[in-house]
Amino acid sequence: MKILILGSGGREHAIAKKLLEDNPYINLYFYPGNGGTSLIGKNIGNNYSISDLAFFSKKNNIDTTIVGSEFFLMQKIVDLFNFYKLNIIGPKYLSAKLEGDRIFAKSFMKKYGICTPKYEIFNSYNDAISFVKKNKKFPLVIKTNGLAYGKGVIITHNESDSNNELKNIMIEQKFGKSGNKIIIEEYLEGKEVSIISIFNRKKIIPFLSSRDYKKVEENDMGLNTGGMGSIVPNPYMNNFLFNDFKNNILEPTLDGLITEKLEFFGFLYFGLMIYKNKMYLLEYNTRMGDPEAQSLFPLMKNNFLNILKSCFYGNDISIKWKNCSSCCVVLSSKGYPKKYKKGNIIKGLKYLKEPFYIAGAEKLNEKWITSGGRVLNIVGISNNIENSRKIAYKKVKKIQFDNIYYRKDIGLI
Ligand code: GLY
Repeated sequence: MKILILGSGGREHAIAKKLLEDNPYINLYFYPGNGGTSLIGKNIGNNYSISDLAFFSKKNNIDTTIVGSEFFLMQKIVDLFNFYKLNIIGPKYLSAKLEGDRIFAKSFMKKYGICTPKYEIFNSYNDAISFVKKNKKFPLVIKTNGLAYGKGVIITHNESDSNNELKNIMIEQKFGKSGNKIIIEEYLEGKEVSIISIFNRKKIIPFLSSRDYKKVEENDMGLNTGGMGSIVPNPYMNNFLFNDFKNNILEPTLDGLITEKLEFFGFLYFGLMIYKNKMYLLEYNTRMGDPEAQSLFPLMKNNFLNILKSCFYGNDISIKWKNCSSCCVVLSSKGYPKKYKKGNIIKGLKYLKEPFYIAGAEKLNEKWITSGGRVLNIVGISNNIENSRKIAYKKVKKIQFDNIYYRKDIGLI
């Protein structure tokens, strides 16, 4: 069996390692992949368009393609693969808009009574400014409409702060065209939760809850990143909140997906907030989270390929999890998410115990060197978060490279 995985991060390495652990006979291909994926499969090249990927899949008899990164979804890769009758796991463009078009997503949430923070939509800078002046409630959340790769969400704390950001986004186009239309949303101060699920066109099957640490500095300070760590399960979730999520977010989402004919086979990620003991949906993503996937896979008991096969045929499946917790610490290059140096030699990787995943690192002449902002994802597994955290940080201590940076508070909830 041949599987092509699209993306270049720790998440894609985690998907691949889990697939191989359960099914050592499969052949894996990656586009573009990273230094870790090149050791367990074949990185097929660079500068491929989605048509090149379809051509590659057809020519090489790829059985299925798993879309890791959202980057490919908004380019309509699933529509193209479907046209050529190539198997692919992910939503078509219309459904991927639940992630790639925030106004579309918010309108969907409103239409189906999904519990989400209050919001207003603006395509005029002057109207947005007047709203901020009249509203007078801070903080506020300003969101660009289109994908801005984790950067299009800004929290402002007063009127002049908000006006400046609105000018940057709407007039100076800091995020390009994705800022032509924006959302201003009420800010909810609470605990963030991620729930990744798999959607089999009929049913949404949730995975364990997780928490992503998005900010670069400890105590959730500093710039937003792609994620500096994750834990599973999220310690703030309980049965009451899960039922609230199920009744007021998951089920109305399912109703909306079916009614609007947005069914697909793939992952649906709910970005949630617990606010005053109630669950709110902040955003959908239409793929797995990174680095949540890196904490989830080591706890999954099922053969992941069997989950994918069952969902492909629209069958229900019960996903079994180890009765453990996991904690993933992201080792990054100092300076990330802004400028950082590449090419630093990584020491200690050879003796590092599993699980760990490569993100921005490659092997050159038998030496591992850094090649990205997020370099390695190191995971600890144990009976509770505290012990998983201890194990993860003990493993972290075994790795050295110049300009290493990581948060010390992952798992301290
Ligand atoms: N961890 C958040 C994301 O993958 O978007």
